[in-house]
Amino acid sequence: MSLFRLDSSIRTEGSVSREVADTLERAYLEQHPGGSVIRRDVGTAPLPAEVWATAAFAGYTPEDQRTEGQKAAVALATTLADEVLRADTAVIAAPLYNFGVSQHLKVWIDLVITDPRFAPGTTPLAGRQVAIVVARGGGYGEGTPRAGWDHATDWIRRIFGDVWGAEVTLVEAELTLADVTPQMEALRPLAAEVRAKAHELAASTGKQFASRAA
Ligand SMILES: Cc1cc2nc3c(=O)[nH]c(=O)nc-3n(C[C@H](O)[C@H](O)[C@H](O)COP(=O)(O)O)c2cc1C
Repeated sequence: MSLFRLDSSIRTEGSVSREVADTLERAYLEQHPGGSVIRRDVGTAPLPAEVWATAAFAGYTPEDQRTEGQKAAVALATTLADEVLRADTAVIAAPLYNFGVSQHLKVWIDLVITDPRFAPGTTPLAGRQVAIVVARGGGYGEGTPRAGWDHATDWIRRIFGDVWGAEVTLVEAELTLADVTPQMEALRPLAAEVRAKAHELAASTGKQFASRAA
C-alpha cells in the first residue's frame, strides 16, 4: 500500500504546497505506519522539456524503427507512469505560477499522457483517490478582482479527475504571499485561517487515504 507524492514547487524553504503535502503524508503514515511513499520532485529535479515532443512522436513510430532518443523518451514516460500506478493514492503539490500551471508539472503530465495507459479515453486512476494541493500567492475567491485568473487548478483537476478518472480532493491554500508583502498586511489573518484549513483538510485526507486502502 503506497502513496505517490509529486512536488512541483521551485523552492524547498518556505514552500506552502510542500508543507501542506507534508501534513497529508504525515497523517497517512501515522494511520498506516507500514505504508510507503513513492516520490517524484519535478520542482527541484525538472524533467527535460523537449522529451515530451520526442515521446509524443515515438508513439507514432513502430517500435523497431525508433531512434535511441525516442526509446529513452518512451522509457522515461513509462517510469513516470509506473510510479503513479504502483501507488493506491496520490498527492500532487501544485503552486500557481504566472496565473497558470507550473511548466515542470505540465511537462510531467504531458509525458505521462504519452504512455498508452494514460492516453485520453483510458481511466487508469478509476477508483483511486488523489489530493491536489494548490498554493497561490494571491486571492482568487468569488467577487475578488482576480476571480477566474487561476488557470491552473481547474486544468489539473480536469486531468486527474475527468481524464484519468481519479476521485479528487482539492486542498487549497491562498494568499500565501500575505506574510511577505506589505500591501497585503490586512489579509494576514485571513491567509492564516485559509492555511490552517488547508492543513486540516490535508490531515483528514491523508488519514482517509490510509484507512480506505487498509
Ligand atoms: C515565478 C513565480 C510566479 C508566481 N506567479 C503567481 C501568480 O501568477 N499568482 C499568484 O497568486 N501567485 C504567484 N506566485 C506566488 C506563488 O503562487 C506562491 O508563492 C505559492 O505559495 C508558491 O507555492 P509554494 O509555496 O509551494 O512554493 C508566483 C511565484 C513565483 C516564484
